[in-house]
This record gives sequence, C-alpha cells and structure tokens, in this order.
Amino acid sequence: MDLKRELKKHAGLKAMHEEAVADISSAGTPDEVEDARVRHLGRKSGLSQLLRSIPELPDDEKPVVGKLGNQVRAALEQQLADRRRELEEGELSERLATEQVDITLPGQPFPRGHLHILTQTIWEIEDIFAGLGYRIAEGPDIETDYYNFTALNTPEGHPARSSHDTFFIEGQPDVLLRTHTSPVQIRVMEKEEPPVYVVVPGRVYRRDSDATHTPMFHQIEGLAVDRNITMGDLKGTLEMFVKAVFGADREIRLRPHFFPFTEPSVEIDVSCMICGGSGCRACKFIGWLEILGAGMVDPKVFGFVDYDTEDFQGFAFGMGVERIAMLKHGMTDLRMFYDNDLRLIRQF
Ligand code: DAH
Repeated sequence: MDLKRELKKHAGLKAMHEEAVADISSAGTPDEVEDARVRHLGRKSGLSQLLRSIPELPDDEKPVVGKLGNQVRAALEQQLADRRRELEEGELSERLATEQVDITLPGQPFPRGHLHILTQTIWEIEDIFAGLGYRIAEGPDIETDYYNFTALNTPEGHPARSSHDTFFIEGQPDVLLRTHTSPVQIRVMEKEEPPVYVVVPGRVYRRDSDATHTPMFHQIEGLAVDRNITMGDLKGTLEMFVKAVFGADREIRLRPHFFPFTEPSVEIDVSCMICGGSGCRACKFIGWLEILGAGMVDPKVFGFVDYDTEDFQGFAFGMGVERIAMLKHGMTDLRMFYDNDLRLIRQF
C-alpha cells in the first residue's frame, strides 16, 4: 500500500504527515528527535487529537481516518526511530574520531615498592654464606623450652629463662616465643648427620624495648659441624663475612665471653667503620663495635643430638640483623625499622 497515494484521501492527515516528516528529518540531535516526537505524536499533537475525535466524525469518514491515521502514526514512529539511530551512530563515530586513545603510549607510572632494608640485609648475609657452601634452614617462632634452652645446655635457673627476658605462653610452661635462633641448631642436627653447614634467619622475641631493642627482632644463626673444625675456621669464616658486609678495610677481634652452648665462647668486634678505629662517639671511643656472638659448639650440645664428639667438632655464631643494618647504614634508633616511615624506607 502506498501511503502517499492513500493520503490524497485526507487533506488534513496529509498536511500533518508532511509537516512531521520535514520536522523529523531536520532534527539534528537525539533531543531534537524527541521534541519532534512529542510535537507530532504526543498526546496534544494534531494526529492524536484527530484519532481521539473519530467517534464524533461522520460515519463514512470514520474508517478512512482510523486506518490512515494509524498508518501515519506507524510511519512517523519508524522515521523517528531511524532518525534517532542515525544521529546516535553519528555521535558515536564522531566521538570515536575525536576522542582517539593512543594505546601505544606508556601508561600511568604504577607505584612500585621494594624489599624492606631488613629483608635486604638478611638476603645479603644469606648470600655471603651461601657462597661458602652453607644452606638455609628455618625453625618455628613458637618454640619449646627444650629446644630454646635445655638442649642448648641452658639449665633451669639460668637468667635467660626469667620472665623478665622471655615471653612464655600462659598455661603452657614449656612453650615460649624463641629468644634466639639457636634452637634451630638442635632441630637441624636431630634430622641430619654431619657434616652440617647452615645459616638460620628468623624472628626472635625478648621483653626489651628501647632505642636499641624491640620486643621482636631478627637474628641469623650459623652452624658448621665437620671433621677437624677449629677455632681458626671460625675466625677465618667470620673475618671473611665481616669484610664482605662492611668492606675489605675492616678488621675483627675476638673477646672471650660466655654462652652456655659454646666452649670456648667469644664475642666478635669489628673495627669502627666511622673512625676507622681511632675512637669516636659511635664506638664509644673504643675503636671497636660488637657485632656477634660465637664459639666452638659445646660437646654437651652434641650429646643432646647424639653426634660423635670424637669425630666431629663445630663452631656456631649468632648475630642481630638490625644491629648489622644499623652499623652498616649509620642508624641510631632501632625502632625506625618498624615505624614504616617512607622517608626512611625509601632511602634503601
Ligand atoms: N644465641 C645467642 C644470643 O641470642 C647468640 C649466639 C652466641 C649464637 C653464640 C651462637 C653462638 O650460635 O655460638 O644471644
């Protein structure tokens, strides 16, 4: 059916149709299309009013207006939809043309973190010993009295066992937060036959809190057990370690000391890296800075793990990671490691 020909039958509808078609075609935006719809098909439009008035029309006009009116409405609705889509697509392609994104441009820089200075220090120390053939071993932070004290030849009544020094677990008198990494020596030797060469990084806990102590800190333990191990091996190993960490100019000295699990025991000092040994505030005018404890493994300790003390000897050492990092980087307050102040963290 040809709407144009049909429209000749009704001049009023023909005029409404022509006006609406012109209006819709000239709409330049989707909003203008909507305005045209309201104007020509809305409740108050001429077409709607005409269709509503059908019951009052003369009988012979009713079917003509009814049929033709609905055809005009359908045709205009179709034209409105087409025009709207046309304009929306135009808007889209215009936006695609003007708002081009160059996906080959580098993106926004993404903030990237790095390892904490303590982790870096632990890794550096591990690396030095790995180069000497040591393996890394680990043990639990929550430890038993046996591994933390007894098997390390630290009998009941020893001051380190006092509640001033150690975090015990309430209601579990034999369970505590380990006060040092030394218990891992026992755990390793229980499982493995000599020779043993291990370093043990980890967290340790003590009831201390001041500028040079935090209740949790880090240690690295070392244990070497083999045939014909002497104190010369201990000294040579730790001298090499100190030079690797603090520089080839550093020297060490061994001072007699006491630890329950080594005999003899020593503390090792490094020549002050600030004044070179002549004495300054950092080394309290002594020229030396204490960095670790060490000694030859006490045969009593070997007794707890059934090692043959005729055939095997060993040395052990333990150091505080925070202390090493503080000396290396000239820091004065150990608590800074745990303040999470980015101004400090970003320096390393
Ligand atoms: N465990 C000791 C401490 O925490 C450090 C230490 C000293 C470890 C001598 C050792 C050692 O293995 O031989 O103070």
